[in-house]
Amino acid sequence: MTKRGRDMDLRLEGKTALVTGSSAGIGVGIARMLAAEGALVVIHGRNLERAQGVAAEIRQQGGRCAVACGDLADQAGVDQVAEVALKVSGGIDILVNNAGGSPESVDPSWFSTCTDTWLDTYQANVLAAMRLIQTLVPGMRERGWGRVINISTAAAITPTSAQPDYAAAKAAMLSMSLSLSKALSGTGVTSNAISPGMIRTAGLNTFLANFAAKRGWGNDLTRAEAYVLKGAGQTVAKVGEVEDIAYMVTILASPRADFINGANMHVDGGISPSLH
Ligand SMILES: NC(=O)c1ccc[n+]([C@@H]2O[C@H](COP(=O)([O-])OP(=O)(O)OC[C@H]3O[C@@H](n4cnc5c(N)ncnc54)[C@H](OP(=O)(O)O)[C@@H]3O)[C@@H](O)[C@H]2O)c1
Repeated sequence: MTKRGRDMDLRLEGKTALVTGSSAGIGVGIARMLAAEGALVVIHGRNLERAQGVAAEIRQQGGRCAVACGDLADQAGVDQVAEVALKVSGGIDILVNNAGGSPESVDPSWFSTCTDTWLDTYQANVLAAMRLIQTLVPGMRERGWGRVINISTAAAITPTSAQPDYAAAKAAMLSMSLSLSKALSGTGVTSNAISPGMIRTAGLNTFLANFAAKRGWGNDLTRAEAYVLKGAGQTVAKVGEVEDIAYMVTILASPRADFINGANMHVDGGISPSLH
């Protein structure tokens, strides 16, 4: 038997997925993996050129994909993305609310985080996801099957003293994800969240570069990474890769995960141990 023959069929062939924020970082890994499993994936971001680059690479690997770009921080942008995504897919089965994060800030400490930053972070994370859910989930419900997967963060339940707007917005996403699973009770549509820990992306590299520079370590990112990891309290002594999150998304997206609903999957190297 070939290795491929022994792989579990996740039954994603013929499904359609919109992965928000798949023009960069974790979203690229998610889009690649869903496409490799046979789903038609709609690549999304604000930057059209970057999104088209990801789409070209997926097609080169034999995957099926399309592109729908737009800013999700307001209703008009969401409407634009949803309209294109529905047109190119004929209906979205799997919605991965991955776009978002925290706005770049010179000083992310508690008392320097102003009201506008709190509002922007809430818009880009919670309201972006909520608007797409309200637009795309009714179609899933009508078809009797669907998946909503909300990307939160380990910081939602283990916040630090910095970026309070980000941790609070991502905690709101966990609550929203769970209440949605109840609202969709018995419909065949599930709603789950994933809380990633430290994942290797361009953003992490920038953080490590700033960290090293501040301590006079020049461009020694390896030293900065080892220092940060030591203080992070993980029980797996490494930074996660985008594939670590993509595997979890792909499992939750699969019809084989029909019995998982309202969960928050911690993919964080053990940084937030909990009995929940
Ligand atoms: N990286 C980590 O260690 C980590 C840890 C925990 C949780 N997370 C979460 O995982 C998700 C992905 O993070 P990442 O590090 O992969 O982010 P990233 O590399 O900064 O990429 C963010 C993606 O989201 C898109 N995006 C951001 N704001 C948007 C908006 N208002 N409208 C439309 N698209 C928007 C970006 O599109 P354009 O660039 O094309 O504009 C890009 O495709 C985020 O929700 C983040 O909070 C990340």
